[in-house]
Amino acid sequence: MTGNPYDLAGRTAVVTGGTGVLGSAMAAALAQAGARVAVLGRREDAAERVARQLESDGATAMALPADVLDEDSLKAAVTRLENAWGPADILLNAAGGNRPDALVHGDKTLFDMSPDAFRTVLDLNLTGTLMPIQAFGRAMADTGHGSIINISSMAARKPLTRVIGYAAAKAGVDNLTQWLAVHAAQAWGEGVRVNAIAPGFFVGEQNRALLLNDDGTPTDRGARILDHTPMGRFGNPEDLSGTVVWLASQASAFVTGVVVPVDGGYDAFGGV
Ligand SMILES: NC(=O)c1ccc[n+]([C@@H]2O[C@H](COP(=O)([O-])OP(=O)(O)OC[C@H]3O[C@@H](n4cnc5c(N)ncnc54)[C@H](OP(=O)(O)O)[C@@H]3O)[C@@H](O)[C@H]2O)c1
Repeated sequence: MTGNPYDLAGRTAVVTGGTGVLGSAMAAALAQAGARVAVLGRREDAAERVARQLESDGATAMALPADVLDEDSLKAAVTRLENAWGPADILLNAAGGNRPDALVHGDKTLFDMSPDAFRTVLDLNLTGTLMPIQAFGRAMADTGHGSIINISSMAARKPLTRVIGYAAAKAGVDNLTQWLAVHAAQAWGEGVRVNAIAPGFFVGEQNRALLLNDDGTPTDRGARILDHTPMGRFGNPEDLSGTVVWLASQASAFVTGVVVPVDGGYDAFGGV
């Protein structure tokens, strides 16, 4: 290996959920390492905003509006990307999240939760990871070159209370990551790698009310999480930058099938 193994110059990255809190920060990290970045989300205006911000920071970027659960929209995004820049070398699957109606909490017992809400969360987080892989991964399989990075969660290995569907979906993401890492290496060659990042607790739009009160102090749940996080703080989106660049780049050439916690020690801590 010659030169800087973390350099992503000349690489094309697609970031699903690139319009979101963590996705946009990871898109910026990839761009800073030299990659061209396509920002994928359903909201075209938000994707444009993120792409313009990356450009104003000196990167090459484009908005690539698409729905990760809609095959036609993903096919159109692949065509647009390939016509503009050629195929993706890096696919970061950050589209995902939870829904309030898929929580089991307070007055809402397990028996009140609608199976449709559960199914929707499974679909977004798990099928919504698979479908972009099918769309953008085809070229990786053909060329024998690419890095796929999925976004898991602390809920995957040890389920968190309340978030029943989300935890099951992210456990599925971990399993899919390992399954596909093996398949990719065996069927497409060692140049196609599949890994995941399991972020700890980051304050985002979806979980703000779960973690923080209106005055910025932690909720009971937020305080319990902080007690269980040896570093004693929530993550900043930029805390994911180094790991995403490492997994996207040749610096991790012999790494496939791993789920890397970026969590201030939460996963390591037994609570005592
Ligand atoms: N925040 C945390 O503490 C935390 C911890 C662990 C894991 N995670 C995971 O990290 C990822 C990003 O989370 P976040 O906190 O940054 O959430 P966020 O700000 O709500 O971002 C979610 C992203 O998903 C996109 N999305 C949702 N449905 C989509 C669809 N059908 N098609 C395309 N894009 C879709 C949204 O874009 P559009 O609205 O434009 O479609 C948005 O960009 C998620 O997978 C989440 O589960 C977050």
